[in-house]
Amino acid sequence: MSQNQFDKKSQAWSALFSEPMSDLVKRYTSSVFFDKRLWQADITGSLAHAEMLAAQGIISADDHASIQKGMAQIWGEIESGAFEWKLDLEDVHLNIEARLTQLVGDAGKRLHTGRSRNDQVATDVRLWLRGEIDLIGELLVDLQKSLVDVAEANAEVILPGFTHLQVAQPVSFGHHMLAYVEMFSRDAERFSEVRRRTNRLPLGSAALAGTSYPLDRERVAKTLAMDGVCQNSLDAVSDRDFAIEFTSAASLTMIHISRMSEELIIWMSQNFGFIKIADRFTTGSSIMPQKKNPDVPELARGKTGRVVGHLMGLITLMKGQPLAYNKDNQEDKEPLFDTVDTLKDTLRIFSEMIGGQVNAATGKKDGGISVNTEAMERAALKGYATATDLADYLVKKGLPFRDAHETVAHAVKAAQSHACDLSELPLEVLQGFHASIEKDVYECLSLRGSLNARNILGGTAPAQVRAQVARHRSRLG
Ligand code: ARG
Repeated sequence: MSQNQFDKKSQAWSALFSEPMSDLVKRYTSSVFFDKRLWQADITGSLAHAEMLAAQGIISADDHASIQKGMAQIWGEIESGAFEWKLDLEDVHLNIEARLTQLVGDAGKRLHTGRSRNDQVATDVRLWLRGEIDLIGELLVDLQKSLVDVAEANAEVILPGFTHLQVAQPVSFGHHMLAYVEMFSRDAERFSEVRRRTNRLPLGSAALAGTSYPLDRERVAKTLAMDGVCQNSLDAVSDRDFAIEFTSAASLTMIHISRMSEELIIWMSQNFGFIKIADRFTTGSSIMPQKKNPDVPELARGKTGRVVGHLMGLITLMKGQPLAYNKDNQEDKEPLFDTVDTLKDTLRIFSEMIGGQVNAATGKKDGGISVNTEAMERAALKGYATATDLADYLVKKGLPFRDAHETVAHAVKAAQSHACDLSELPLEVLQGFHASIEKDVYECLSLRGSLNARNILGGTAPAQVRAQVARHRSRLG
C-alpha cells in the first residue's frame, strides 16, 4: 500500500473495497467514543509489544525508540485533551496507531507486526479491568472498615432479629453489621479470583491462529506484570468469560448492597425509627415539606437491577458466538464500563454514608449512621423475642425440647392475652406452665440475658461480636 489506510478519510477500507462505508454504518460500527477509555491500556500494551519486537530483532532499535517517543507524545495529548479522536478511525486502537504513524512515519506502521486488533483489544480490556479490580478491592476494604466501626460501637445495642420479617430473637446491632462484612469479604475474595484469570496475556494470538513471527510472549507478559500467557490463540481472542465473571462478582456485591439498602430504608421509616443517615444522603419532597427520603439506598437498590442486567447482556452476547473473534465482542465494553462505574460510586457512597467521613479538625470519622438504641430495644420487646430462651431454660431443667417448645407456646398465648411481655408474667403464672420454673427464669427472659447466652462462635453475644471485630480489624489492616 503506497498510502496509509488511515489517511484515506471517507475512502474505501482498502484497495479491495469499491466504495467507502456509509456514514450510518460508520456510526454503527464505531466504538471510539466509548472505548477511548482504554487508551492507557492500549498504549501500555503497544509499548510492551514494541519492546519485545525490538528485543527479538523484528523491528530495529531506532524504530523502537521512535515508537516510544511517539507514544509519549500521544499519552500527553490524550491526557491534556488535545488528542483528536476520529469516528472515521473506528476505535481506540486505530486512532492511536494512526496518530503514531502521523508522528513517526514507518516505525508507527511497523508496530502492528505480529499483532491484530483481536489480540490487542482482548489484552487492553484485561489490563484495564485488572486496574479497576484493584481499585474495587480497596473500596471494599473501606466499606468493610466502616461497617466494623459501626459494629464495634454497637456491640451491646439490641435490635429485634427477624425471620420472615417477624420478630424472632434479639440480636446485637454490631452482629447485624458484621453479617454484611462477611458478605463483602467474600465479594473481595471473588474479585481477587477473577483478577487471577483476567491477568493473562492474549497478545501473540494475532487474529486467531497465532503468528509466524518469533514473538516472545512470556517477555510481554512479564513487562505487563501479567500472571501468564493465554495458551490457545482461538480462545484468547474470542472468549470474554473474564468480563462475565467480573460482572457476576459485581452483581453479587450490588445484591449485598441492595439487601443492606432495603434494611436501611425500612429502619429509617417512621414506623421503625431505628437509624438516621446524614442529611447529605437524603432528599426532600417537592410537595411534602416534612419528608426526608432515603434516595441513596433506593437508587442503589435500583442500580443493582442495572448491573444484573449487564450480566445478562454479557452472557447473552457470548452464548451464540462460534470461534474465534466476532464483532459481537465490541458490545462487551459499555456494560462492563457501566458496571465498574456504578459499583465504584456505590461503594464509595456507602462507605461514607455508613461510617462517616474523616473530620479534618478531629482526625476522627463523623457523620455516619446514627442509631436510636431505645427504638431498637423497644421493638425487640414487642414480639416475644425471648420465647426460645424460655424453651432453652426448660430444656436445661430436663424437658425434651419439643415439649418445652409447646409449653412456651402456652406461655406466649397467656402473655398475649394479658398484653404483656413474657418477662412481665408473674412467677406463679409461669410456674403454672411448668413447676420447674424458678426466679432465675427472669434472667433468661431479658433481652440482654438472651443476647449474652448466645456466646458461641458466630453467635450474637457482644463478647463474640468484639472477638469478630478484632479478627476483621487485623484482616483488613
Ligand atoms: N473495536 C473492536 C472490539 O472492540 C476491536 C477489534 C476489532 N477486530 C476486528 N476484527 N474488527 O472488539
